[in-house]
Amino acid sequence: MTSLQSRELDDSCPDAAPDQLQELRHDGSVLALAVSDKYIFAGTSKGEIAVWSLGTFQPVQTIQAHKRSVLCLLLTDDLKYLFSTACEPIINVWCPRTFTRLYEIYSTYDVGDVFSVAYSPQRETVYVGTQTQDIQWISLKDPDRKSSHESAHHPDRRQHRFFDSRAVGGTSTPRRTEEFYALIPKADQVLEIDSGAIRQYAHYGWVFCMLVAKGPTVLVDSDEEVLISGGGDGTIKLWKLSDSGPDYDDGNIITGDIEELMVLGEDDSESVMSLAIDGSFLYAGKLGGIIELWDLDTKQKLRVIKAHDGNVNVLKMSFGLLWSGGTGGSASKHSTVHYGRDTNGGAQNISQKYQCLSRWKAHDAKILSSATVVHHSDQLFLTGANDNTVRVWRVNGMPSQTEDGTGPAEDMMIQSLREFISYKTVSSRPEFTEDCRKGATFLGSLFKRLGADVEMLSTGSLHNPVVYAKFSGKLEPAEKRKRILFYGHYDVVPADMKGDNWQTDPFKLSGRDGYLYGRGVSDNKGPIIAALYAVSDLLQEKALDSDIIFVIEGEEESGSRGFAEAIHDNKELIGHIDYVLLANSYWLDDEVPCLTYGLRGVLHATVCIDSKHPDLHSGVDGSNMLSEPLTDLTLLVSKLKDRKNHVNIPGFYDGILPLTKEEDLRYDDIANILIRRNPANGPTEALKRSLMARWREPNLTIHRYNVSGPDGSLISSHATANVSIRLVPGQEVDEVIKNLKSFLREEYEQFESDNTLTIRIDNKAEPWLGVPGNYIFRTLEEAVMKAWGPTASEGSNNGISVALPPNGTNDEAAPKTRKPLYIREGGSIPPIRFLEKEFNAPAAHLPCGQASDAAHLDNERLRVVNLQKSREIFSTVFRKL
Ligand code: BES
Ligand code: MN
Repeated sequence: MTSLQSRELDDSCPDAAPDQLQELRHDGSVLALAVSDKYIFAGTSKGEIAVWSLGTFQPVQTIQAHKRSVLCLLLTDDLKYLFSTACEPIINVWCPRTFTRLYEIYSTYDVGDVFSVAYSPQRETVYVGTQTQDIQWISLKDPDRKSSHESAHHPDRRQHRFFDSRAVGGTSTPRRTEEFYALIPKADQVLEIDSGAIRQYAHYGWVFCMLVAKGPTVLVDSDEEVLISGGGDGTIKLWKLSDSGPDYDDGNIITGDIEELMVLGEDDSESVMSLAIDGSFLYAGKLGGIIELWDLDTKQKLRVIKAHDGNVNVLKMSFGLLWSGGTGGSASKHSTVHYGRDTNGGAQNISQKYQCLSRWKAHDAKILSSATVVHHSDQLFLTGANDNTVRVWRVNGMPSQTEDGTGPAEDMMIQSLREFISYKTVSSRPEFTEDCRKGATFLGSLFKRLGADVEMLSTGSLHNPVVYAKFSGKLEPAEKRKRILFYGHYDVVPADMKGDNWQTDPFKLSGRDGYLYGRGVSDNKGPIIAALYAVSDLLQEKALDSDIIFVIEGEEESGSRGFAEAIHDNKELIGHIDYVLLANSYWLDDEVPCLTYGLRGVLHATVCIDSKHPDLHSGVDGSNMLSEPLTDLTLLVSKLKDRKNHVNIPGFYDGILPLTKEEDLRYDDIANILIRRNPANGPTEALKRSLMARWREPNLTIHRYNVSGPDGSLISSHATANVSIRLVPGQEVDEVIKNLKSFLREEYEQFESDNTLTIRIDNKAEPWLGVPGNYIFRTLEEAVMKAWGPTASEGSNNGISVALPPNGTNDEAAPKTRKPLYIREGGSIPPIRFLEKEFNAPAAHLPCGQASDAAHLDNERLRVVNLQKSREIFSTVFRKL
């Protein structure tokens, strides 16, 4: 046997990792995991149970469950009880829906740590496996077991035979109590295990793992429950459960009993760390990466598989496969006895059984816990490790899987987004031209697959095409349908992996702590996918009346080159439009849903100074007789602004609309709400000033200088400066361009330089100001309120934030804003105002992301809940408009 444990891993096993949907971080090792239909529960080395929503991966609550490390979590099949055990002699029973502590169970023996727990639904009895090598049990329904919080038998008050013994006149060792003990919620009921409900020396070692199985061997009836335990002595034992108690002299205590039915593995003393059952086959995970397979009918050991490096702490039989994980950090899946079984019950190919189908590095740490669940028809395998993370793997596509035909699953949306993100659609760099084309083609075929008529609109050979996709509504006649144009962009800004600025590859969607990370997830691929799946949902429900026309361009980040022409040339194809909708901005903070009704305009200009000389040596050629391009440029550009950031272009501020009373009040509202949520945003006046300066006042930025020639003592013959100006309503772009040019030229003339000045306009966008009270905004407002509830952080029935904040008090100060905040933005989206004018239709803007999304920056992200809620909001809006 020992030779097996040093055996090499099977290297024919493909190294293929499934999709990692999420990584959830906590601040302690994850020693235990359980998952219900709604929540992920992780037991940690700090005695906590951390709870996340399974639907959104948002943290829901952290319960201080025990004084020390949680060792085991067990959820009953009927989702009624969640059991937790720990490095302390207390077993807790929780309600997995309300997280209340239903029972606290203690033993009158000194049990040390409680490693394992199993539950018999037939007997409503809990079995616990302990460090003192025994198995004890208690019925949750036995009225005689009720004890009190004050019981003198409770381990908190009991005298320890050794540590607490008192010599005459002496004192006892002070007990360690820590502040956080007080955080452990009080149990509704306290139960004391009967001193007779114990099987001492169940194993000659710690009882590491247990499970209850129905009829796992021919030795019992097919529906009879059997307890199976694995111990530090290397043996596996099957126990017959009975209601009759051990013989007592007084005869009247009936506590049930367990009777040894079978012992396996007496010839091998390596500890049994984990168990999984598959009919009459039992898998045991052992030290040294070994998994044993036992036939419980014949008591034979059928296989010994070297599956991992390190100890196999994790075994799960799910989806027709065996899932395992080792302390070396690898996880794997194996085919089982069912694999390849054909439907006629015909012969099976034995060589395909118990084969490693894939093994992957799941953690750079010890895998200590696991759980499996089917969620939205996705098969999920969860692993917990001592790197303080839970990782959620989507492991779909196994033999037994059936399509339930209930339409697109939740996660198809994320799957599509994952693929969308993998295309490096960077419009500003020529080396990505090919990727941009492929990204556009992918998007086009995705639209087609979900039911749209698709066309690629050319923007000229140099620029990326516009993807046009039309979903037809069912309302007849067609002229009666409302027609909504959804604008978005599939191009992204570059994402450089220099150093370790990105935590994960920007072009590989990766989920962490309820967020999805990747370049473009928030700006603008995520929102596009949410809108697309909203339409698809309506189609499935036969509830799409209106025509929805997607116009998704590939040049927005480069000033929407060729967009206006492409739209204009295809006006007949696009036809009449009633509303323009887009989703390419962010909330003001991370909590309060917003609607955006204004954006600044922008113009980007390049100012160039050229000499008629080539590059020169500054020592050999430089003299006061020579006008140097970079000097000219520096002096010229410096004229644009003064020291107080006032722009010197004549007439620059002339058209800007005065602040109305109503507008002023709106800024007060916004500032107050933000400050109440987070006082650090204050004081009010300063925040108001800052918002106004960014939203309703223009600004000029000098971005970058460029010069010709190599570094060194050089007088460059060419020098350029990139300048942009953000514009607000009342400023006409073309007017500003004209004034900018003439201002620079007039100033430059006074230099009387030999060099020449040219000014190039790279792109321009008009400012946009929507009408907050109009029909499209009112419809959006209602939809936002419906999706997000009273306020973002108080949403209740959606599996998020149902819980109190960690300090246990509700944030009374938080205002119950029902309505989204109406905000403006400092950024620009060139086509909005153009589309409004071209189609004579009002536009509205739904920000999907949070302020912390980091668009254009490293580690761009979008919260999963925001993606889901945006899909809901679009669905409502497309239905109602
Ligand atoms: N989504 C942004 C615009 C934006 C930024 C809106 C911040 C609201 C808040 C868009 O993708 C963008 O980056 N626009 C550019 C346009 C430019 C390249 C013409 C911008 O604002 O700089
Ligand atoms: Mn952008």
